[in-house]
Amino acid sequence: MRIYKAANYKEMSRKAANIISAQVILKPDCVLGLATGSTPIGLYEYLVDWYKKGDLDFSKVQTVNLDEYKGLPRDNDQSYYYFMHDNLFNHINIDPANVHLPDGMEPDAEKECRRYDELIRSLGGVDIQLLGIGHNGHIGFNEPDTVFAKGTHCVKLQESTIQANKRFFASAEEVPQYAYTMGIQTIMSAKKILIMANGAGKAEIIKKAFFGPITPEVPASVLQLHGDVTLVLDNEAASLI
Ligand code: GLP
Repeated sequence: MRIYKAANYKEMSRKAANIISAQVILKPDCVLGLATGSTPIGLYEYLVDWYKKGDLDFSKVQTVNLDEYKGLPRDNDQSYYYFMHDNLFNHINIDPANVHLPDGMEPDAEKECRRYDELIRSLGGVDIQLLGIGHNGHIGFNEPDTVFAKGTHCVKLQESTIQANKRFFASAEEVPQYAYTMGIQTIMSAKKILIMANGAGKAEIIKKAFFGPITPEVPASVLQLHGDVTLVLDNEAASLI
């Protein structure tokens, strides 16, 4: 595991963007596994900036997102579809046909999860998977559990996750209760993992996940078993390691 400690959010974002850019430059038709949340917003800003300067070409890149709220239409500004277009896809030359997220409006969970796993397989797997981390150690929407979930599945969000994400909604009642997410096995199958965290609020979980026991109670801890993990942290998130 490589750990980069950055002085602040901007530097963390730049370092992570450097890593994603290297992937796109070295393999122009790569499959990027992307994430939402507040953590990667700065990274996406750098990618857009470098695309506009002519340093990056996304025309052959494929993207697969980690997760999506179940029941939110694409045009809802809290859907991850909307987030990704607003923060990245609308500003770069990605082919819309190469953009993939779970379909939150598909009511048949089994069908949608199977479709998404087959899609990822048909693309040849993920070259680099970007991850943030929840305060309870969740990655994507893989919540603490007694077992590690395998493929894409439908999860009931924990109350703490609903509380953490309600800042983006008018109220906690509006946060969807369910989401589709890649499973732990899907994430672990990515060739490379890039995980980012910033702020003092993430320090405890970073210590637990990467220096504590490997347990489904802390889903991110499984990443200790992955052969190619890069952790990019700001000083505050790194303060306990
Ligand atoms: C959300 C997302 C995760 C994200 C996490 C942390 O629930 N499903 O993919 O990593 O929360 O979010 P943030 O980056 O805003 O702290």
